[in-house]
Amino acid sequence: MSEKMLVSCSDGVLRLTFNRPEKKNALDRETYRALIQALDAARGDETIGAVVFSGAGGDFTAGNDLADFRDFMEKPEEFPALAFVRALAAFEKPMVAAVTGDAVGVGATMLFHCDLVYANAGARLRMPFIDLGLVPEAGASLLVPRRFGMARASQYLLAGEGFSGEDAFRLGLVNELAEPETVLEVAIGAARRLAQKPAAALRAARRLIRGDPAEVLARIDLEAALFAQALATPEARARISAFFGRRE
Ligand code: COA
Repeated sequence: MSEKMLVSCSDGVLRLTFNRPEKKNALDRETYRALIQALDAARGDETIGAVVFSGAGGDFTAGNDLADFRDFMEKPEEFPALAFVRALAAFEKPMVAAVTGDAVGVGATMLFHCDLVYANAGARLRMPFIDLGLVPEAGASLLVPRRFGMARASQYLLAGEGFSGEDAFRLGLVNELAEPETVLEVAIGAARRLAQKPAAALRAARRLIRGDPAEVLARIDLEAALFAQALATPEARARISAFFGRRE
């Protein structure tokens, strides 16, 4: 596994913790590979009934490692972010997220794949794809308007405005707000209760509620093709480099 992603399991709950707090838990290729491996293993493990995602050190995740984006055009085959979001969309067991601090980019869009989301009111969510010269990913172009309605989808995906945990609660992305120090505990409790339910019935109900994943997977692939094109543009490259305060 990887130091950047901690894995533990108890009471039927697999905990996946983004663990790179000095970089706001940004997800690099190593972390994505570890996530994919953990989800793959969980799929066939009957002792695992639910998954909890959280971040170490106070933040959920600042999304894709922006430094990694710069390598994408040279080696697209070694870029596992797409495989991770596809794995999320296809995963059949319940997923729970504990969100505190920053949840940016895929840190926000992955929440639309989770069944239960807990956050503190002041959590900071943002989907800044357009401002980076990129396009939404992880099925967000389909799932955000579906969940939030078109007005908020435009505000958050096109205008790139940030929104709080409290906003996300009001809009139906977050199930319950908690104090930052108790968000994880609440999420684990909810995951444990899910893990104790009849697994086959839960899986079937989940599919009925969320629909056939093929639709979301097709949208993810469409977004990914546009995302790759966008990443190759000088504008996206300049905007990503600007984050690190340098020009290429
Ligand atoms: N990729 C790589 N490094 C990242 C990162 C990312 N997505 N997000 C944060 N970091 C790094 C910073 O470079 C900094 O590293 P340094 O101390 O070596 O300079 C460290 O994490 C702390 O980030 P910083 O920006 O100083 O923290 P902040 O509290 O001022 O701001 C954020 C937090 C999340 C608002 C800000 O870091 C940010 O906007 N990150 C980029 C988010 C993003 O665009 N994600 C991709 C979307 S597609």
